[in-house]
Amino acid sequence: MKVVRSRAEFFAARGGQSGTIGLVPTMGALHAGHVALLDSARSECDCVITTNFVNPTQFGPDEDLARYPRTLDADLEVCERAGVDLVWAPGVDDVYPSGGTHVRVEPGPLGDILEGTVRPGHFTGVLTVVAKFLNLVRPGRAYFGEKDYQQLALIRQMTEDLELGVAIVGVDTVREPDGLALSSRNVYLSPDERARALVLSRALGAGQAAAGEGAIGVITAATAVLASQPDISVDYLELRGADLGEIPVHGACRLLVAARVGATRLIDNVGVDL
Ligand code: PAJ
Repeated sequence: MKVVRSRAEFFAARGGQSGTIGLVPTMGALHAGHVALLDSARSECDCVITTNFVNPTQFGPDEDLARYPRTLDADLEVCERAGVDLVWAPGVDDVYPSGGTHVRVEPGPLGDILEGTVRPGHFTGVLTVVAKFLNLVRPGRAYFGEKDYQQLALIRQMTEDLELGVAIVGVDTVREPDGLALSSRNVYLSPDERARALVLSRALGAGQAAAGEGAIGVITAATAVLASQPDISVDYLELRGADLGEIPVHGACRLLVAARVGATRLIDNVGVDL
């Protein structure tokens, strides 16, 4: 496994790779969710490249950029075990050599709902940095988690709308045995907050189980479970079509939730078949 930091080192190392390149972009603090992405890439591609970069432009002014966990040494061990060929852990200046970007990727209407209502500018930052990494790495395939379902949907839309010529692969959410979706932000949770956070996946499970009762039944069941835990602050609980558009009468939907547990903001989602 090769590890590079600067953009020049990256270009030199990228030049030596051939066959189908699989890219797994991450912000580090790797956990089993990231490993699932690396494993998928490993099984489908000749060469696996991962980026490890806490992207400042996707954090709002009151968000957790400064305290976001940075664990590069441990991350490199995870990457080594997962059979990664090349890790690029650039500095901010390597990704934004002129200090930022004047031209940015505008997410469009899909960016205005759900997370977009609570985190203005977030998806512009995400899409712009993902577009940069796709252009710098030039992979045949790029891997993203369903854990960040709206992010995945927007990245798919960006690659289609802008003809980026890369296959976007979505990977199932990896959970703790008790249902909590793995997230780099889970390290912020105290034991008490972690126990409270379980209500998110429980609510989604209750919604899923009520699929036979239609859309209203799903929302009612999930809302009732969420309400059983008053010590969290819910940003949204929404049922949408699988493409995050209108809810179909029958067919694939997505139930999505976001809530603050103490100072930590968590998101989760599941598929629901109406
Ligand atoms: P990060 O939060 O590090 O996540 C990197 C990738 O891992 C994303 O595609 C995310 O959806 C996936 N992932 C996180 N938790 C997961 C879980 N429990 N199960 C499955 N996949 C999971 O998402 C980002 O970084 C950034 O926005 C990025 C795309 C790298 C752009 O900066």
